Amino acid sequence: MKETILVTGGAGFIGSHTAVELLDSGYSVVIVDNFSNSKPEVLDKIRQITGKDFKFYEEDLLNLDGISKIFDENKIDAVIHFAGLKAVGESVEKPVEYYHNNITGSLMLIKAMKKHGCKKIVFSSSATVYGVNNPVPFVEDMPTSATNPYGYTKVMIEQILRDVYVSDNEWSVSLLRYFNPIGAHKSGLIGEDPNGIPNNLLPYIGKVAVGQLPQLNVFGDDYDTPDGTGVRDYIHVCDLASGHLCALKYVLENKGVEAVNLGTGKGSSVLDVLHSFEKACGKELPYEIKPRRAGDIATCYANTDKAKRLFGWEAKHSLDEMTADGWNFIKNNF
Ligand code: UD1
Repeated sequence: MKETILVTGGAGFIGSHTAVELLDSGYSVVIVDNFSNSKPEVLDKIRQITGKDFKFYEEDLLNLDGISKIFDENKIDAVIHFAGLKAVGESVEKPVEYYHNNITGSLMLIKAMKKHGCKKIVFSSSATVYGVNNPVPFVEDMPTSATNPYGYTKVMIEQILRDVYVSDNEWSVSLLRYFNPIGAHKSGLIGEDPNGIPNNLLPYIGKVAVGQLPQLNVFGDDYDTPDGTGVRDYIHVCDLASGHLCALKYVLENKGVEAVNLGTGKGSSVLDVLHSFEKACGKELPYEIKPRRAGDIATCYANTDKAKRLFGWEAKHSLDEMTADGWNFIKNNF
């Protein structure tokens, strides 16, 4: 049997796809989630897709005793840490909740890991840590910053983990900076299903496609980009999940701290994504150009050299495959 991996936030969008990939690759998986932005049904879907079982704890990372118990009851070899709040706008309205949940939750997890001698962690960071002043493509050694509390929690947790390594060189830390994850598992059983009205582009387009929202509001068409709309590096969530497996193998075999971009290195505009989605769902979708959204940048895409060099990993899916798989999930689940 391979190693036992604790997945925090394993019922969430990226966590559930990574749990599938771990189980398919023969790892033993323990999931902890508090369902704050996910549904219990996802756990059965993971079992259905993989035909494999895993242990599950409904627990909040803020509860140190509860988290410690997971380590008491299982010999955890490494942690993949997804759990956290992730809505940018909400983080501006509720900064204290965001800092408390994301930072304190991570500190409790690290405390429990230290207590049990578990020193290997893959952390769910974000391209948001490149802030607004770096030129594209973003490279891992550029300075980090943020424009909102959510982004600062990612910058701070990266720093906390770097400091943990400085204090004890036995640690192995992978800071994965995701670009824009979209798409869904080919089975159509798991995908992105946020509570309430979505903030992110793909779930929003999905709600328009199924008739739950009247139109897409395109935030700005006067950016310095080929068609004037914002350009992002969209990556299939299954490619992202496979990137986590590579990062996990790396932390199991090496010590140190590495920040690594997980993106495709290619940019697509809001209208590129909309038109690709229209092909997938076979109908035209209404949209209207609106003013720019506060805090958005024109263009964001990754330099992917380090992931190739360190992990031998690169993203494989095209934008059309991402929107087709996304639609396959949305039409069955929204
Ligand atoms: C956002 C967050 C980022 C976070 C990521 C997590 C902001 C400013 N950034 O990234 O910090 O890590 O989500 O998922 O919120 N768009 C529209 N109409 C919509 C929604 C989006 O035109 O209804 C446009 C945006 O202006 C942007 C692109 O679509 O150009 C992608 O937006 P989104 O999916 O929200 O992702 P990011 O803003 O890149």
